[in-house]
Amino acid sequence: MSKLTAAITAVGSYVPEFVLSNKLLETMVDTNDEWITTRTGIKERRILKEEGKGTSFLAIKAAENLIHKKGLNAEEIDMVIVATATPDQPVAATAAYVASEIGATNAFAYDLQAACSSFLYGMSTAAAYIQSGRYKKVLLIGADKMSSIINYKDRTTCIIFGDGAGAALFEPNEEGLGLQDEFLRSDGIGRDFLHIKAGGSLIPTTEQTVKENLHYVFQDGKTVFKYAVSNMANVAAKIMERNQLEESDVQWLVPHQANKRIIDATANRMDLPSEKVMINIDKYGNTTSATLPLLLADYESKLKKGDNLIFAAFGGGFTWGSIYLKWAYDSKNN
Ligand code: UT7
Repeated sequence: MSKLTAAITAVGSYVPEFVLSNKLLETMVDTNDEWITTRTGIKERRILKEEGKGTSFLAIKAAENLIHKKGLNAEEIDMVIVATATPDQPVAATAAYVASEIGATNAFAYDLQAACSSFLYGMSTAAAYIQSGRYKKVLLIGADKMSSIINYKDRTTCIIFGDGAGAALFEPNEEGLGLQDEFLRSDGIGRDFLHIKAGGSLIPTTEQTVKENLHYVFQDGKTVFKYAVSNMANVAAKIMERNQLEESDVQWLVPHQANKRIIDATANRMDLPSEKVMINIDKYGNTTSATLPLLLADYESKLKKGDNLIFAAFGGGFTWGSIYLKWAYDSKNN
């Protein structure tokens, strides 16, 4: 009998309607479209504006999109993982609420947090549950309402991030398709350079921490950039080498969308032409846990059964890694 592999068998996505363009940002902070475009590749991002809606709203919409497209009975889902850095609440897993709302009444659910690598790490977790033979349908959702933790007076962060969600269903595969290999890493040195300082157990929220804006994302962009550019390229090259993959064997690079320059550096290191690089940073900015599944949803119609995909991500912590996955289906639209 062939080894059981874990394949992605459906994807879904959701972005809120409100568009925060570079032009609009020019009216909010001291920045300009030219600087943002050349330094990051971002033109606009989506923001969830409605009061009383958190990350769960985005996650539910993405999951419902997947369920509808696949014609899936939600009661068959065994587990729901919500990869997120912005849970609805610090306590009470967002995933538990999401699972109930989408009708996954036979599932167990929890959140997974590894900043911008949350979805990548989640792929490893989802695949491991499937490969163990214990579960047949694992729904992995990457969702973040980044606008809830961004200071729109800080031009070094507010131009980068956006809100959104994407979902992927993992199921067993007996043709050898799905996740092939992974190379995941972390280094605690990173927490000084990209964090939210207050609101956790180390420095609980006080009136003072709020006054000092310590409940917002802080990023030392230059330092994070340096680590991201070398580490993302290194792991992507490593996973190709380890699996004896040449440029011609790889159909797609699926890179975390933090900065177009980091994506280009990774693609160059892999010798991949730009036509093989998934990109939507211009439309959504950095949606943290949602970048990878939003790419899959945007490019789904171009993907073919058997295509070799290399995922790569880098994020706060630091956390980073690369995954090699064989795509398992032809889209109905290609
Ligand atoms: O997804 C998680 C991981 N995160 C990342 O991978 C992000 C990594 N970092 C980056 O993408 C980049 O470092 C940024 C996009 C955040 C910044 O780009 P940079 O090329 O590293 O710019 P910088 O911070 O070195 O700033 C260059 C200049 C500075 O002015 P001076 O000192 O040269 O006069 C900044 O004050 O650009 C200035 N600047 C801006 N100017 C216009 C910084 N932010 C802005 C802005 N608009 N929004």
